[in-house]
Amino acid sequence: MKFFIDTANIDDIKKAHKIGVLSGVTTNPSLVAKEGVKFEDRIAEILQAVPDVESVSAEVTPAAVTAEAMIAEAEELIKINGGDKHITIKLPMTVAGLEATRYLAKKGVKTNVTLIFTVNQALLAARAGATYVSPFLGRLDDISEDGVLLVSKIAELFRIHKLDAQIIAASVRHPDHVTRVAMAGAHIATIPYSVIEQLTKHPLTDQGIEKFATDWANVPKN
Ligand code: E4P
Repeated sequence: MKFFIDTANIDDIKKAHKIGVLSGVTTNPSLVAKEGVKFEDRIAEILQAVPDVESVSAEVTPAAVTAEAMIAEAEELIKINGGDKHITIKLPMTVAGLEATRYLAKKGVKTNVTLIFTVNQALLAARAGATYVSPFLGRLDDISEDGVLLVSKIAELFRIHKLDAQIIAASVRHPDHVTRVAMAGAHIATIPYSVIEQLTKHPLTDQGIEKFATDWANVPKN
């Protein structure tokens, strides 16, 4: 399973990139709104900051509700930074979103169908030609459903029917989600920087570092 970071914050993206495990970035209108910067400018900045990742998702705006409007926005987004091939157009899981997905896929533009909450939605998105499908597990858990189970069902379905779309486990809230979606067959987990940091931690690691430091102080230095 690969790691994407789920943020529009440039400092967090740079920190995650430095660790060397980052394969992509996902943003959404809420994440961009937190930053107080112009959407297109931030996407350009992200593309420049992480030129070696496979994908940077930029979502069409909530104002684009028809396929035509989504395609028009996508056509502007794919021009950012002179037509950076890493840009992935994120589209909502609606009839119009699927229509736009099909159109963009035929043009060779990468797409990420977002706000997926059922296996059927994932199947439709994959059949429409989506490069990525994003089931939101945390939001399902919030309503007492099982987000990881959804990821595992989608992974099984894609295997049975040999569908190429990659599953991005999204709305990931904690390290246990990460372990469980990796075991469930997600190709990618997109996670906030705070969760990436938590993944590095264990109390025994901290205790071990402390013990080694204490013992090292007793080693003769000359
Ligand atoms: C994914 O692409 C979304 O940006 C994201 O994971 C949503 O997560 P949330 O439920 O924490 O807002």
